[in-house]
Amino acid sequence: MAESISAAINVAPIPHISPDAATSGVASKKPTPRIADFTKVTQVRRIVAAAVVLLMSYHFVGSSWRDVFQYHPLMMTVACVGFLPEIMHLSNNFRRCRSMVERQQTVGLHLQTAIAMKVLSLIGFVAIEISKIQRKKKHFTTWHGLIGLICIIVLALQVVIGIVYHYRLFPTKRFPGIFSLLRKVHQWLGITLVALAAVSMYLGLQTHFAEKAVVEPWARMFFALATTAVVIFAYVRE
Ligand code: HEM
Ligand code: HEM
Repeated sequence: MAESISAAINVAPIPHISPDAATSGVASKKPTPRIADFTKVTQVRRIVAAAVVLLMSYHFVGSSWRDVFQYHPLMMTVACVGFLPEIMHLSNNFRRCRSMVERQQTVGLHLQTAIAMKVLSLIGFVAIEISKIQRKKKHFTTWHGLIGLICIIVLALQVVIGIVYHYRLFPTKRFPGIFSLLRKVHQWLGITLVALAAVSMYLGLQTHFAEKAVVEPWARMFFALATTAVVIFAYVRE
C-alpha cells in the first residue's frame, strides 16, 4: 500500500511512515523529534555560517570586479559554507518527516539547495578556468586543483543520482534493486562530498593567493576548520 501511494505520487517510499501516516500525517513507529523542535539550533548555525561566509568573502574580494579570479574563492565559499550545510541538514531531516507532504517539501528544498550549490560551484570553476587561460597557466597541476576537480565531478554525480533516485528515472523491471543501490550510493557520496569539500577548502586556503589574502596562518586554519565544522554540525547535531 505504502509502495502504491509512493508510486502514485512518483516518490520513493518512506521506510518509517505507515500507509495511514501517508494520508493522515501520523507516524506509525516511535516518533522522532519534529523538525520545528530544532529551529533555534538551526538559526544559530545559520548565523555562524553567514558570518563565516562574510568574513571569508571580505578577504577574497579583489580590487576590481573585472578580475575573474576572485569569483572562484567567493563562489566556492558560498557553495561550501552557505549551501552544503543546508543540503546535509535537510537530508538528515527526511527521517523526521511525519507525512508524505512534509517529506515532499523537505526533498524539494534538498533538491533546490543542491542545484543552487551546483550552479555556484560551476560559476567558481568556470572563473578559475578563464583566469588560468587568461594568465596562460597550466591546469590541474596542484593537489588543490586535482581534488577540487574531483569534488566538482562528485557533486554533479550526486545531483544526477539524487534526481534519478527521487523521480524513479530507471526501468525498475529490468534492474530490480537499482533504487536501493542508488540510495546507498547517494548516502555515501554525500559524506564523501563533505570530505572532498573540506580538503579542497583547506588546500585552497594554503595557496599563494590565500596566503596574501589572509596573512595570518591561524586565520586560514580557522576558516578551513569553520567550513568543515558548520557542515558536520548541520548533519550530526540536529
Ligand atoms: C570546495 C572548494 C573549492 C574547490 C572545489 C576548488 C576547485 C579548484 C579547481 C578544480 C582548481 C583547478 C583549476 C585548474 O587547474 O585548471 C582550483 C584552482 C585554484 N583555487 Fe580552488 N577550489 C575551492 C576553493 C578555493 C578557495 C577557498 C581558494 C582560495 C582561498 C581557492 C584558490 C584557488 C587557487 C589560487 C587556484 C589556482 C592554483 C591551483 O590550481 O592550485 N580555491 N580550485
Ligand atoms: C549536493 C548534492 C546532494 C547531497 C550532498 C545530498 C546528500 C544526501 C544525503 C547525505 C542523504 C542521506 C540522508 C540520510 O539517510 O542520512 C540524502 C538523501 C536523499 N537525497 Fe540527497 N543529496 C544531494 C542532492 C540531491 C538531489 C539533487 C536530490 C533530488 C531530488 C536528492 C534526493 C534525495 C532523496 C530523495 C534522499 C532520501 C533517500 C532515502 O533515504 O530514501 N538529493 N541526500
